Amino acid sequence: MQNIFLTGGTDGIGLSATKSLLAMKHRLFVTYRNKKKLDAVKHELKTFYDNEKITFLKCDLSEPDQINEIVNVVSKSKIKLDCLINNAGAILFKKSYNSMGIEKVFATNHLGPFYLTTRLIEKNLIHEGGRIINVGSSAHQTAVLDFNNLDSSKSKSWYERYSRSKLCNLLFTLKLSEKLAKKNISVNCVHPGIVNTNIGQDHKGILQFIIRLILKYRGISPEEGADTLVYLATNEIVQNLSGKYFINRSESKPSKEALKSDIADRLWLESTKIIDRFSS
Ligand SMILES: NC(=O)c1ccc[n+]([C@@H]2O[C@H](COP(=O)([O-])OP(=O)(O)OC[C@H]3O[C@@H](n4cnc5c(N)ncnc54)[C@H](OP(=O)(O)O)[C@@H]3O)[C@@H](O)[C@H]2O)c1
Repeated sequence: MQNIFLTGGTDGIGLSATKSLLAMKHRLFVTYRNKKKLDAVKHELKTFYDNEKITFLKCDLSEPDQINEIVNVVSKSKIKLDCLINNAGAILFKKSYNSMGIEKVFATNHLGPFYLTTRLIEKNLIHEGGRIINVGSSAHQTAVLDFNNLDSSKSKSWYERYSRSKLCNLLFTLKLSEKLAKKNISVNCVHPGIVNTNIGQDHKGILQFIIRLILKYRGISPEEGADTLVYLATNEIVQNLSGKYFINRSESKPSKEALKSDIADRLWLESTKIIDRFSS
């Protein structure tokens, strides 16, 4: 039995991962945002659901103060994590900002997981020999970061904002895996496939409708989408692999940009600066 922390477990790929991990009898911390949605999920999980085995934590990952609160809950529980799965993510067509004025796709998809992970590590809440899995996307393949517009708030394209945030997931994986090598904590990134979920439905329009149709008719099921991240979280075979990018349970090649150590260093530095601004 492992203690696993999973973000975004109330929908799509994360909800399927929650079900699989519960069925395997792991103990879970799962984040949610919306109480109504959580109640529906709890109802759906009834056949698997065991009060002892799952703790739901309210958190909007684009808000660092809410991340502090959930890290404190884990800390007080005295439970050390075997695995952290940074799954929550969003495509937002409309530009919006968190309370620090940071664009929300960047804040949710990169800065939130960056802060959550580094806080859990600082507080020594992840076991030596543990695993961290970041859910990225093949959308990173076309992205290049712009350090004069790191949160992409000046970008007009929703796809640029999303694909850059997913490149950040790979660069974060690269740097974190180096930093955690001594602690023997592995860090890997997953592209789940094109998956039939509710991603990108923040408001209704023709583009959202087209995306919905593509995901519905071309996408794999959320269960299939969750397969590689559940595999990485639980399988002995991958225990010692770190800094890798996986698709369909196999190691895959990310973009050249995702392998640039100097870019990964700079992203780490700039992300730390933003967080420090929040903390001071
Ligand atoms: N679907 C695909 O084809 C696809 C392809 C490549 C990569 N991915 C990646 O897979 C991951 C999961 O996506 P999905 O397709 O399962 O999407 P989804 O069905 O929309 O589920 C996303 C989950 O993330 C949570 N979330 C979103 N914004 C959040 C925030 N600010 N704070 C906290 N939680 C937040 C959602 O919470 P609520 O339940 O409150 O909305 C939901 O539980 C994402 O990282 C995405 O980039 C998806």
